Amino acid sequence: MEKESASEVLTNNYTVQVATTEHLHLAEAICHEMEESAKARGTGIAKRSPEYLKDKIKEGKAIIATNDAGEFIGFCYVETWEHGKFVANSGLIVKPEWRKYGIAKAVKAKAFELSRTKYPDAKIIGITTSLAVMKINSELGYEPTTFSELPVNDAFWKGCQSCVNYDVLTRTDRKHCLCTGMIFDPEWEKNKAKREQEANANKDKQQEEHEPWNFLKDVKVLERLKSIKEKMFLKMQAKRAERQAV
Ligand SMILES: CC(C)(COP(=O)(O)OP(=O)(O)OC[C@H]1O[C@@H](n2cnc3c(N)ncnc32)[C@H](O)[C@@H]1OP(=O)(O)O)[C@@H](O)C(=O)NCCC(=O)NCCS
Repeated sequence: MEKESASEVLTNNYTVQVATTEHLHLAEAICHEMEESAKARGTGIAKRSPEYLKDKIKEGKAIIATNDAGEFIGFCYVETWEHGKFVANSGLIVKPEWRKYGIAKAVKAKAFELSRTKYPDAKIIGITTSLAVMKINSELGYEPTTFSELPVNDAFWKGCQSCVNYDVLTRTDRKHCLCTGMIFDPEWEKNKAKREQEANANKDKQQEEHEPWNFLKDVKVLERLKSIKEKMFLKMQAKRAERQAV
């Protein structure tokens, strides 16, 4: 395939969608790109076989970005651990000539939406050294977390075995490594909605308490005040007139 130039990429359109069986033939190209990118970064990356990616596609758990020619330009898939308690959107990859155009952001947003729909009660997790991924995750509502909050079972950590820093992880009993752990807890959403409701109610109350007196709204009060003042003024005037007459 001929490499597209940056200007061609800018004018091209792309589609981000849940991958279907129509995309199965792209699994090899995706795997190849994952390996090449891992080599270029000098880090290991969890090794995936084309068969594994094909299974994800068949299960409706993969997101793919394609260009107008139907070629893969971005990819990511959904994995679960501990019977769906944890979900991760793994294997994020964007073809080098398509990077920095927001494709990873769009792919991750779609994967996040899919994860929330399929597993609404699951905690969505990730570990990464990539600043781009940290930015994207933060925007989606993830927060940094300690490794102790991540799944404890070996299957989750198996993906780290091909990373050059794996010895750091094992030396620290999976407590620390160069990656940052990130988590999105759906409970926060529920509490956030509740907290926002309470905050808004308090704000309304405070605003009411500190609102300047609206004279036009309280005409009756104003009229009463005016009549009290008039009576007092008339009384004072009468007293003054009495004193002058003496
Ligand atoms: C990481 C990767 C997926 C980013 O893809 P992308 O399509 O270029 O990312 P986006 O254009 O959606 O950028 C998302 C954000 O990250 C920023 N970003 C992108 N690449 C960056 C980089 N190399 N360094 C720092 N920030 C970066 C963007 O500016 C953007 O931030 P903004 O919204 O504040 O402008 C891509 O570089 C890649 O495939 N790398 C190799 C594989 C990899 O590292 N995967 C992640 C494994 S955890």
